[in-house]
Amino acid sequence: MKAITASLRWLATTLLVAATASAQSIAQINGDHFLSPYSGQTVSNVTGVVTAKGPDGIWIRSVKPGCNKRVSNSLYVYGSALAGNTSVAVGDVIVLNGKVSEYRSSKDYIYMTELGSPKITAILETGKAIEPLVIGQDTLSPPTSQYSGLDGGDVFAVPNNQSLLSVANPQLQPDLYGLDFWESLMGELVTIESPRAIGKPNQYGDTWVVGDWNTTGDNDRTGLTVSASDGNPEGIIIGSPLDGSSNPTDTKLGDRLDTVTGVVFQAFGFYRILPLTNLTVIESLAPQLPSPTTLTSEGTCAGITVGGYNIENFYAGDTAHAQAVANHIVSYMRSPDLLAVQEIQDDNGVTDDGTVGSDATLTTLVNAISALGGAAYNYTYISPVDDTSGGAPGGNIRVAYLYRPEILQLRNANPGDAVTANEVLPGPELKLNPGYVDPANKAWTDSRKPLAAAWELADGSGKTLFTVNVHWGSKGGSSSLHGDARPPVNGGVDDRQAQAEATASFVSAILAEDASAYVLTIGDFNEFAFAKPIADFAALSGLGDLDAAAGIPTAERYTYLYDMNSQELDHVFVSPALAAANTGFEHLHVNTWVAYDDATSDHDPSVAKFDLC
Ligand SMILES: *[C@@H]1O[C@H](CO)[C@@H](O)[C@H](O)[C@H]1NC(C)=O
Ligand SMILES: *[C@@H]1O[C@H](CO)[C@@H](O)[C@H](O)[C@H]1NC(C)=O
Ligand SMILES: *[C@@H]1O[C@H](CO)[C@@H](O)[C@H](O)[C@H]1NC(C)=O
Ligand SMILES: *[C@@H]1O[C@H](CO)[C@@H](O)[C@H](O)[C@H]1NC(C)=O
Ligand SMILES: *[C@@H]1O[C@H](CO)[C@@H](O)[C@H](O)[C@H]1NC(C)=O
Ligand SMILES: *[C@@H]1O[C@H](CO)[C@@H](O)[C@H](O)[C@H]1NC(C)=O
Repeated sequence: MKAITASLRWLATTLLVAATASAQSIAQINGDHFLSPYSGQTVSNVTGVVTAKGPDGIWIRSVKPGCNKRVSNSLYVYGSALAGNTSVAVGDVIVLNGKVSEYRSSKDYIYMTELGSPKITAILETGKAIEPLVIGQDTLSPPTSQYSGLDGGDVFAVPNNQSLLSVANPQLQPDLYGLDFWESLMGELVTIESPRAIGKPNQYGDTWVVGDWNTTGDNDRTGLTVSASDGNPEGIIIGSPLDGSSNPTDTKLGDRLDTVTGVVFQAFGFYRILPLTNLTVIESLAPQLPSPTTLTSEGTCAGITVGGYNIENFYAGDTAHAQAVANHIVSYMRSPDLLAVQEIQDDNGVTDDGTVGSDATLTTLVNAISALGGAAYNYTYISPVDDTSGGAPGGNIRVAYLYRPEILQLRNANPGDAVTANEVLPGPELKLNPGYVDPANKAWTDSRKPLAAAWELADGSGKTLFTVNVHWGSKGGSSSLHGDARPPVNGGVDDRQAQAEATASFVSAILAEDASAYVLTIGDFNEFAFAKPIADFAALSGLGDLDAAAGIPTAERYTYLYDMNSQELDHVFVSPALAAANTGFEHLHVNTWVAYDDATSDHDPSVAKFDLC
């Protein structure tokens, strides 16, 4: 009975609104939820001062702004004729009729409220002064950890996509949630004081920034590192300038920018600010490049160095890339004794002709390293079955090891093949050395099979190191952290979960044979340490995060930039004995710190050192 009464009242209210839909204020049109209560309705006598003009519409602000922090006092008016009408100028107070609608260009995005089919009925005043709202001074400060009340406290939680913002349409809580914060300012002309870049621009010059407001997760390069319950909603992207100029595309992490003034907008899956004019870099951080690793080999069990590097679609035909990678390995990683690399293509790169071997590719790398004065490496890998490892079509990417044979060698070398599963034998000993982990498991469909190996030191100490080199499935297919699905879709997470379990099962078998074995898993896990696949991997394998064992501050754990986040996709997980033997671990930000065109890979390399004596 109560429900019926309530829904009748709702119906009556709706009819009443429909019957009297007129003379709405901008605040009434926006309301205090994500969606306008007037969506689909025609409205009249909407009055506002023009704050900005764009190619496809204009922005107006109420001349009597309300002070409800949940409600925007500005509105986007969509119409290219109006936008192009030279007798409508910024500072004009105009009266409009039009139709309210919610627009998005993809069903995975959040809607933006706009006034369409606009018709000016009066210009009440011209030349009215306009002051942008300074974010954090005239507005609340952006929340620093949570995006939406629909994320259950963890924007990376699984299962994800449990609800849709467009359906739940919650009341805005701009003091708590980042999406609510930007929505509560939708259409506003705002200023960001002292902005700095927290990522690299995309090819259009769209650049993630934060202003002088409080931030959390700050790393030493002044980027924001993502962590378990902090997805960095205080970042905002600066999109295409309204005056037709272009943002620079060579901005770097941490670059200081000139003050930005622009309108809050929603497009391509993100809240954004469209600046009145283009971004200007006023200062870049020094030094431009990080220092080389301090971790160098002792050449014996007293100090063995192990490196990891995803060298992004590496193949012999790209000599410039080979030189750049070799330079990083020699000058920054200082030729670690054992180097686990990922994304090694076959010998003719993306040509899809059945070639699967990588000898020419790896020989090119090894020769480039020694030509630069680095170590004289040997290498080992297993070719995959053609077209089964995902990545760039035809490239047949796989993982590989480079090693310094005068320091360590495969113990009882017995290389496997593309389809035979490696096994842990009593001892522990590996049946294949090296050999793929569980290659028939469907967890690895269109993905890289992990390569397990056992290494004995050449110093006669008899020490053995077990390693598994991984490159788990990518996050492709993820939805935007600003998207409609809450929590957002973490693309490929089910694959990575299965891959985590398969990898852990192999590793735990080594530790079951010898709990004090030196075992590590290294590579591009394509996942955050705190996300479920890796948390489960650690629990099931018996390995621990080397970042934690080495005491690297949480904010300095990053090897990759994506959207607003500095993040770690590349990890080393170690057995208890190896954690105790660790004498250092460093992430070398040779790629995250430089401009897009100057990067050699999208990932940073890392180097660890262990005292096994
Ligand atoms: C709209 O404004 C005009 C002019 O001020 C006025 O005559 C008219 O009554 C208003 N319409 C509504 C529906 O309020
Ligand atoms: C431009 O705006 C003015 C003022 O509202 C209006 O009189 C004129 O008709 C508009 N021109 C066009 C082409 O819409
Ligand atoms: C989220 O789930 C809805 C169904 O509830 C579906 O329509 C939508 O496509 C999903 N979003 C993504 C990004 O997969
Ligand atoms: C910013 O941080 C300072 C220091 O932690 C704190 O005192 C202040 O309240 C914060 N301001 C906001 C707007 O959260
Ligand atoms: C910024 O805009 C100005 C004026 O249009 C232009 O001269 C300059 O080249 C632009 N900067 C970049 C990086 O495109
Ligand atoms: C290392 O590589 C060189 C050159 O390819 C080869 O002659 C040598 O046998 C290799 N050594 C080992 C231990 O595999």
